[in-house]
Amino acid sequence: MTRLMVFLGVMTGLVLILVLFTFKTNPVDNEKFDLKKVETAYNEQQKAIAEVTAPKENAGAEETAEIEYAPVVDLSTPQLQAGAKTYGQCIACHGKGGEGKASQKAPHIGGQYDWYVEKQLVDMKSGARINVAMNPIVKGLSPDDMKNVAAYVAALPWDKEKWILDNTPKK
Ligand code: HEC
Repeated sequence: MTRLMVFLGVMTGLVLILVLFTFKTNPVDNEKFDLKKVETAYNEQQKAIAEVTAPKENAGAEETAEIEYAPVVDLSTPQLQAGAKTYGQCIACHGKGGEGKASQKAPHIGGQYDWYVEKQLVDMKSGARINVAMNPIVKGLSPDDMKNVAAYVAALPWDKEKWILDNTPKK
């Protein structure tokens, strides 16, 4: 009986070793789980978010705070003025002209219908549309903020290529 047990034990050991070896010789394909790639993408996104959420130096001076970039839109109504301020939070990803940024996977939204932009923001806040990148931002937006920034986005130039050309510094 003991001999049988020893024999079985040795056989099991041999089979185990064989199985382990076949695993070892299998080619490794980690392409889909490239941690480095995921990590860089994640870091880039975190950087953009940090840029957006970093406290402004003149945070106290809400009333007099000026928009740090030349307005792309004629700020002819109080709604557009308010929208322009809120849009300051969107520039890191969507660009000054709403032209979008491939590096952030952020789409071109300049000139988009105001009702569509507003609906996306409302849906992102409610969770009906999931957008991890914009989550921290929409959380801080009131329904009025969304309406105003939507009006501003709608007023941005629709012609992305022309806007980029016009706004690229000439060498
Ligand atoms: C951290 C980067 C980031 C910031 C900041 C950001 N967005 Fe986005 N936004 C994205 C990404 C990424 C998508 C694409 C989401 C998807 O794939 O569903 C998107 C999508 C959108 C869409 C939907 C476009 C479509 O065609 O469906 C709208 C509208 C939008 N953003 C508006 C804004 C507004 C307004 C702000 C500022 C209040 C803002 N975003 C700030 C990254 C950002």
